[in-house]
Amino acid sequence: MTELIDDQIQVYAERFSADEPPILEEINTFTQANHPHAHMLSGRLQGRFLSMISSLLKPVQILEIGTFTGYSALCLAEGLAPGGSLHTIELRKEDAAAAQAYFNRSAYADQIRLHVGEAASIIPQLPFTWDLVFIDADKTGYVEYYELVLPRLRKGGLILADNVLFHGQVLEPVISGKNAKAIHAFNEHVKADNRVSTSLLTLRDGLLLIRKK
Ligand SMILES: C[S@@+](CC[C@H](N)C(=O)[O-])C[C@H]1O[C@@H](n2cnc3c(N)ncnc32)[C@H](O)[C@@H]1O
Repeated sequence: MTELIDDQIQVYAERFSADEPPILEEINTFTQANHPHAHMLSGRLQGRFLSMISSLLKPVQILEIGTFTGYSALCLAEGLAPGGSLHTIELRKEDAAAAQAYFNRSAYADQIRLHVGEAASIIPQLPFTWDLVFIDADKTGYVEYYELVLPRLRKGGLILADNVLFHGQVLEPVISGKNAKAIHAFNEHVKADNRVSTSLLTLRDGLLLIRKK
């Protein structure tokens, strides 16, 4: 996978960002050592950004689409308002089990609800108004997830969408990959939507901030 950010800049940026809590360092190390798709994990720099945004918003209800081994959920949970909760959705049972084990050991065990299955079926079953949503599952599903969650996002609420530069493939004159095509179509879809305002950060693989007007 192409990394967009220069290694030295990445190391420097990590050096001047907060440390990860020990449980996140453990998830990161375990996932890198044991998971064939470890590159999917948000990582320290993006993780501290997710934590920072969540801490500023103090959300009561967070939705995450794409749990993987639980790293980003625990970053987002750091900002939860007292009594708030985070719902996270994961398709793969093995990854969900790994994430649940970490959630159980974390300070947020009582505030995180993990749902195992297809995001498109589970999202409509969750009867909450979202303050913060993180979209980070299959790229071909982004437009559908966005349209499912936007009506349930509070005014002023925030959607974060990951991998919106898709390893730089969105810059190809004719985009060939299925996922890069889907991501570019998602970026165009959101750009044309006057219900929201956006800011695309060149953090890691691209993070789109989408605020509901
Ligand atoms: C990029 S990873 C998530 C990484 C995680 N948010 C983090 O930062 O550590 C995407 C996850 O979405 C899950 N996923 C893919 N398609 C899905 C679907 N249709 N419904 C729910 N989860 C899905 C994958 O199994 C994978 O674990």
